[in-house]
Parts: sequence; structure tokens; C-alpha cells
Amino acid sequence: MSLDLAPRQRAMLKEMGIKVWWPAAEVAVPVAPPPAVAAVVTPEFIATVAHPTSSKGSFDTENTLQKHPAVAQVSAPRPPAAPFTAPLTSHLAAHLDWPALQDAVANCQACGLCESRKNTVFGVGQAPTDPALAPQVDWLIVGEAPGENEDLQGEPFVGQAGKLLDNMLKALGLNRTRQVYIANVLKCRPPHNRNPAPAEIAQCAPYLQRQIELLQPKIILALGRFAVQTVLADSVPQVATIALGKLRGQVYAYHGVPVVVSYHPAYLLRSLPDKAKAWADLCLAQSVVQKAG
Ligand code: URA
Repeated sequence: MSLDLAPRQRAMLKEMGIKVWWPAAEVAVPVAPPPAVAAVVTPEFIATVAHPTSSKGSFDTENTLQKHPAVAQVSAPRPPAAPFTAPLTSHLAAHLDWPALQDAVANCQACGLCESRKNTVFGVGQAPTDPALAPQVDWLIVGEAPGENEDLQGEPFVGQAGKLLDNMLKALGLNRTRQVYIANVLKCRPPHNRNPAPAEIAQCAPYLQRQIELLQPKIILALGRFAVQTVLADSVPQVATIALGKLRGQVYAYHGVPVVVSYHPAYLLRSLPDKAKAWADLCLAQSVVQKAG
């Protein structure tokens, strides 16, 4: 039976040793509606929130909401999502361990960005205690996509915006190899640093989702609108229509992991007045980490 897969997708599956059995007509699968609850967390929650789960890889938003009644449930049930062609990567990434996930990203050909990239950019952070496991970090910082320098070096945030991020971390007593992991929504550079396309985000987001699942950080700091929209997609209705400035100042939850949003460092380089707000966001995030113990 011939499958209706693009050559790039076939190459990716072959690379990963995955056999696919579904016929072409079934590639478009109905996807379950996202959780109907947006978790906007109040100060009481911050005061009581513990590290959501000690067992790595287990997500439990519902439980977190039950255990923490201070979490406001702000959204109405959403209508069922229309069927769409599920990103190929979501079938693959969901069960990979950390080293296999790194390999999958390094060999990914799920979208056209693989043709122009020099390197994939998986992420950087504290070294894992066991090479087979994800690093144990308190903070996951999520940016948008690699730029020119990141593409050349294979590491996130190594340009001017990265220097600012490093300084912000330093002010908190952190650095990119201590209690921190830094990753982007996209693992490959969009040519000429253009904005990520929705289809590219859809293909790449399962890698970030799996990173979060394996890292189980105490806080996710989402920087800039693409990171914010990706991380809060299932919990804040119509998040793409809400200005980042309006989303700031609250703690959200991504599958039980607290999330704080802030401005992208590249934007802060151009908008000095908002640096003070970004510092307030970092302090909010730090308070969540400290309360989690
Ligand atoms: N901007 C990002 O969002 N990520 C990087 O890695 C570099 C710049």
C-alpha cells in the first residue's frame, strides 16, 4: 500500500527506524479537543504550589487543579477540534528518551527548514547526572528559534539577545549550565530570521513538549510571543489574540508545570523601559521556584 507521505517525511521515518502502517486516507486523524481549562494561578497557588510531580514524564494538570483550588478555571469548554493532519513528529517524539530525542532533532526533516539549516539547536543547560536521562533543572527557558549565530554554533541564545539573557540569569544567581535549560520552539533557523510559520511550529512543538515532559522543570519561562503562544496554546483560549503585556504577571500551568511569560530578550534590547517589567517577571518565576522547594 502506498503512503501519502512527502519524501522528507519518509526520509525522517526511515532515519528513525520507524515503520508506518496507516494508509494515506488515515493520515488525517481527528485529534481530541485540548483540555477545557485554562489555569490562571493566583498568589495563593504560588504560596502552596509544590513541584507538580516527582515522577519524571507524568503530566497531571487535572490533579494540580484539584489539589490547588486557588487555580482559577477561566475558560468555557471548547468545541471539538476539526480533524487535521497531525504533525508527523508528534507520533514520534512522544515516547523518546532524552538521547533519542536529541537524535530525532539532529536528523529531523519534518519541514523545509532542514534544507537551509547549518545545525539543529536542541538546547543547552546543566549536564545530566546520567547521560541517558534529561538534566534535572529548576528552570526551563523557552525562546523562539535559532538565529544566525545559533545556527552556526548549534546552541541557543549565543548572540546579543543571549548576552542579555545571560545577564538576567546572572542577576538571579543562575547561569546556562546551572539549574537552567534553554530551548527554543523551533530547533532550526528560519531563513533570514523570519518569523516561524504556523506549520513549522506545529511540526517542531512536539519536540519541545517532550523536552518539557522529560525535564519536568519547576518553572517554564516563556520568552516572546511565539514561545508564549506555543506553551499556552492549550490552556489560554485565543492566546494568539492577547498581547504579551496583558498575559504577564500571572502564573499559568502547562500540564502541571507552572509557566511565567515575559518579553523576548531581542525585544528588550530595543525597548529599555520594558526591562524593568522583565525583571519583575523573573522575580515572579523565581518565587515559584523557591516555593516549590
Ligand atoms: N532568539 C531566540 O528566540 N532563540 C535563540 O536561540 C536566539 C535568539
